[in-house]
Amino acid sequence: MPAHKKKLNTNPPSQAEGFFLALKEKFTGKLPKDCLEIKSLSRNQIETILDLAQEFKEKEARGQKKHEDLKGKALINIFFEPSTRTRTSFELAGRRLSADMMTIAPQASSLSKGESLKDMIENLEAMGPDLMVVRHAASGAPGLIASYTKAAVVNAGDGSHEHPTQALLDAFTVKEKLGEIQGKHLVIVGDISYSRVARSNIYAFCKLGGKVTCVGPATLIPPGIEKMGAKVETDLDKILPHADAVMFLRIQKERQEKMNFPSIAEYTRFYGMNRTRWAALKKEALIMHPGPINRGVEIEPEIADGRLEGGAQTVILDQVKNGTAVRMAVLSLWGRSK
Ligand code: CP
Repeated sequence: MPAHKKKLNTNPPSQAEGFFLALKEKFTGKLPKDCLEIKSLSRNQIETILDLAQEFKEKEARGQKKHEDLKGKALINIFFEPSTRTRTSFELAGRRLSADMMTIAPQASSLSKGESLKDMIENLEAMGPDLMVVRHAASGAPGLIASYTKAAVVNAGDGSHEHPTQALLDAFTVKEKLGEIQGKHLVIVGDISYSRVARSNIYAFCKLGGKVTCVGPATLIPPGIEKMGAKVETDLDKILPHADAVMFLRIQKERQEKMNFPSIAEYTRFYGMNRTRWAALKKEALIMHPGPINRGVEIEPEIADGRLEGGAQTVILDQVKNGTAVRMAVLSLWGRSK
């Protein structure tokens, strides 16, 4: 058939195509090369990621789990530090987006033979990856890796700097459960000094119009946290009735050179979530934890497992569930940005 007689496709874009076009319009030209921190994302960009995650979650509920956003794109996961939730959900997200995906265990790589990080990344770069997802114990390591590769680097948690996709899935969960973040009060409890989760959440919630209070022993609250937008409180019982969501952080024994409080038992007495504190919360409040949990330290098992009824709701496994959709959104946006 001659070209001029071929029927033109005059159909309007499908709902999904239209959604992606609108997202691209919002994002294009502004998306940083790498997804390293919430600090450098705008409210508009964060909302765009959450909107796309919502789209993926709704599609999954309708049985559409697999997508082709990253078809033909190569994704390398490199986890220099242990992980259960983040690593698994990035792998699942990459597979659901049809990426060609590899996971490198650094201890089984040539790093163990003395190869430098720079040489390792430049050799991986030679294979032409489109995305690298990196977790590292050193703050700033994913940023350094990003300088050695043209691939978009996604920070899966670096030292005590940031854990951007954790904060995005936390914000997604609060929005899903409470309807919005604007005006909502997030209370973050515990080991703020060593927590990349706290830093990313402070930036995310403040940018989205929420307010954040950090609570813990003074020895675990770093100076300058107010400059990031959070308030500071040392008395958990005073602040609990005013919280819309309370996030308990893990005591990170691996990042503390010495204990910053007299004993674990004393920490739990003053900052652990128990039945009495649960009763002091608003009935619609959310109880969150990024995991992994030290059961009986930050949170009593009956609350961690959501066994108490008629009051504040534990959403720890909702956070994990939402991690897949949120990481799909991040991989899709950064993977298609080149
Ligand atoms: N929340 C979190 O980062 O958990 P993992 O260390 O298991 O990935």
